[in-house]
Order: sequence, then structure tokens, then C-alpha cells
Amino acid sequence: MPTSKIEERFMLTTTDDEIFINNFSEDVKIGLASESKYLPFVYFYDHIGSQLFEKICELPEYYPTRTETNILETNVDDIVSRFPKETALIELGSGSSTKTRILIETFLKHQSLAYYSPIDVSRQMLEESSYSLLKAYPNLEINAIAARYNEGIHQLNIQAAQRKLIIWLGSSIGNLGRSEVTTLLRHIQKIMLPNDRFLVGIDLQKDKTIIENAYNDSQGITAEFNLNLLTHVNRELGGNFNIEKFDHKAIYNEKVGRIEMYLISNIDQKVFIRDIELEVCFKANETIHTENSFKYSLDDIDTLAEKTGLYVEQQWFDPERFFSLNLFAPSID
Ligand code: AVJ
Repeated sequence: MPTSKIEERFMLTTTDDEIFINNFSEDVKIGLASESKYLPFVYFYDHIGSQLFEKICELPEYYPTRTETNILETNVDDIVSRFPKETALIELGSGSSTKTRILIETFLKHQSLAYYSPIDVSRQMLEESSYSLLKAYPNLEINAIAARYNEGIHQLNIQAAQRKLIIWLGSSIGNLGRSEVTTLLRHIQKIMLPNDRFLVGIDLQKDKTIIENAYNDSQGITAEFNLNLLTHVNRELGGNFNIEKFDHKAIYNEKVGRIEMYLISNIDQKVFIRDIELEVCFKANETIHTENSFKYSLDDIDTLAEKTGLYVEQQWFDPERFFSLNLFAPSID
């Protein structure tokens, strides 16, 4: 098999969508001027934040990454054997792609060529991760799409008439509220043909202490990750947050089934953000809500599928049932 050059196996589609993605100054202004202060979780992932997240994934308390990887490794043959040769692997939010490699390698055991389409808002991330995958796998072709999920999925629809396995790993679904998830899954369902499948990693509801420890780790990496949001504001928007004057806290809201992350001002203080000309007053113990991470029950997963024209064709767990991998299929109507 002749191996072609990396450039010949790589295509990058960008959309107008890209320019609208981040409106950092506007979002910070709205979030910090509001009655209950908040900042959107998407701004965690600057260069330092992305590195800190990689460190979180390796923490002993942070079970999701390890557990999902194990489930995937144990069941990857079962997963891949459900699909014919030439299946296109499509990934929402590709990230560091360690888990994707498990799937790509297994596809390549059964077929001479593999097709991979990562959809991510970060063009730089797409280029970097694609390059390293193409280097590692000479029989891989990548069609990367720099866009938000919704837009990216439509780009894809035009290009790929082959069987699709769409994957969404890492429990990223947890960041979206219940209604946002419903909207996104309906979009995905619409572009699925009867034999296409959607594989989603979902963190499950469990003992409160286990969940809270995963987001309040003993090395303080999650605290650094959370506080880095303020450093990000300082750097990009000329803020003067003193991160020593804020504490990290993550609490599990059992009623709603989600982890809530906060930054807590430990004194009365004023912060000024030069570029948006915003003065922000904090009372001691006042919070900034920075993230939600929803945990699902098995019923929640079934209900979500039902609401979005899908059903759970197969589900895989770890022995402790901390985490789930869900294979969704479009319902026949
Ligand atoms: C990337 C959304 C899956 O919620 O577990 C980890 C992000 N925040 N620790 C999660 C996160 C704090 C993570 N997700």
C-alpha cells in the first residue's frame, strides 16, 4: 500500500461560524454585571486551561476519563464490528483524541483505509491533532471541520454519503443544560440515516462524595483550572483580579443532578476590567458560577433519547457503573 503524504490526506473546512464563536468581552460583561454572577465555561480552555484540563484527566479522583477509556478499550471490537468497511468516524469536540485512537486503530484492523472527521471550534487544535494522527496512521484520511457542532454537522452532511459513526466522548454532554442537549441531539438525529449511529460517553449519577471529590481534588488542580478563568480575563481584557482573593468550590446539586463550580470572593472587593470599562463589586462569599456538569440516571438517558427521535441500542458500563457509553440509533417511525 503506497502511503501518501500527510497534506494529501488532510482537508480542513472552515465556516463563517468560526468568527462568531467567541465574544469574550461581551460574555464577560454580561456575566459579571448580572445579579448572580457567572462566566461561560467555554473560556476555561485557553492554552493554560487546556493543559490543566489534561492534568485533571489524570487525577486519581477524576474517574470519568479513566473509566471511559477502559469501557472503550474493553468493547471497541464489539463497537467497530457493527459497522461496514468505509464507515466515516465523526467526532464532536475532538480534544486530545487519545480515546479516538482506540477506535481508529480498530477500524484500521478491519479495513485498509479509515475516514475521520473531527468537528471542533478550535482550528489550531484541529490542525495539531490531525497532524499527529496522520503521522501515526498512514492509512487515515481526515476531513476536519472548524465550526460549532450544529454548523459542522451540516457541512458534513453534504460531504459524506457513507455510513456514519458519530462520537461524542468525555462526557462533554454534561456541560449542556437539559434543553440545550435536546436541541443538539435533535439536530444530530436529523442528519442520521437509519444505519448511522451516535456513540455518547455520559457520566452517571452516583454517591455525592465520589462526584464532589472528582471536582475538588487534593492536589488543587481543579481549583487552578477554575481560577485560571480570572487570569484569562486579566490577560485578555486587562482585568485586575487577584486570584489569591478567590476560592474554588464544587458542589453536587443532587436535586438537579449536576456539579456546580463556583469561584468565591473571600473578601469584600472591587475589580476593574479595563477593556470593557467594567467595575465589579464583590461581597465576601459572593460567588461566580463558572460551570455545570450534569450527571445522568439511566432513566434520564432513555428519556433524552425518546425526546430526540433516538433509542439506546446498546449501553456499556464499567464494573462500578460510574460511567456509560451509549450507542444511539434513530427510531423507526
Ligand atoms: C469536560 C465537561 C467533561 O465536567 O467533568 C472537569 C470539565 N471541569 N473538572 C467535566 C471539568 C472540572 C469536564 N468536562
